[in-house]
Amino acid sequence: MFSHKVIEKNSILLLVLSLFVVSIGGIIEIAPLFYLESTIEKVKGMRPYSPLELAGRDIYIREGCYNCHSQMIRPLRDEAERYGHYSLAAESMYDHPFQWGSKRTGPDLARVGGRYSDEWHTTHMNNPRDVVPESIMPGYPFLAKTPLDVPDIKANLVANRMVGVPYTDEMLEQAAADLRTQVDPDADDVDGLLERYPKAQVRDFDGNPAMISELDAMIAYLQMMGTLVDFTSYDADANKR
Ligand code: HEC
Repeated sequence: MFSHKVIEKNSILLLVLSLFVVSIGGIIEIAPLFYLESTIEKVKGMRPYSPLELAGRDIYIREGCYNCHSQMIRPLRDEAERYGHYSLAAESMYDHPFQWGSKRTGPDLARVGGRYSDEWHTTHMNNPRDVVPESIMPGYPFLAKTPLDVPDIKANLVANRMVGVPYTDEMLEQAAADLRTQVDPDADDVDGLLERYPKAQVRDFDGNPAMISELDAMIAYLQMMGTLVDFTSYDADANKR
């Protein structure tokens, strides 16, 4: 006989049994996640960032762009009409750390790729007020003048691979070469780059072919954003059937 009186008189027993009862709800919520192979739906088109895009992303983080810009379009009508299709979990699966953000002093950037020309970005980054007179965004004129630190790029890919981004050995070996190739349409191995990173945009981004600048990397990153997944073939309900 296990009467309730025993539990009520023994505080330790009461504590242990209370914790047990409370944890049931938690286990029911968490346990199914262990049996799902992935909580992120696989989406065609997502690939690891090219070395140049990744370098641009690092500068984005270094300069704190996330303090004013989010990269997550919510599934609300006004957002979808302004920015495009709502963001999918898969679209930030290779982001370490993710850049969803919680503050929009400026617009969401998740699908800014292809919205403006490279020249627009070059001017805007130098001094936003040259293209948007009422802008309160600070200028980043030094990006165009600062050479990109290319030798570091392989280590960058290695670090991302350690946290789960599927960079292949070949991608690691080619990292520095791929980075240089992406800003030079006349380079030898453009085909190799495009095979490793489909849809990578290859051109001199900052209008100064004499140097690979931090601005090249930043614009390559911005112009890629939101362009990898092809939404004409994406079916949101496919996994529910
Ligand atoms: C102090 C807040 C602030 C910071 C920091 C900031 N921005 Fe902005 N950004 C804005 C505002 C406000 C706008 C809208 C006006 C404009 O276009 O300049 C904007 C606009 C933009 C746009 C155009 C977006 C569109 O859809 O029209 C891009 C691209 C952009 N910012 C990139 C960046 C990058 C890259 C960084 C970091 C190097 C950065 N911003 C840092 C406030 C900021």
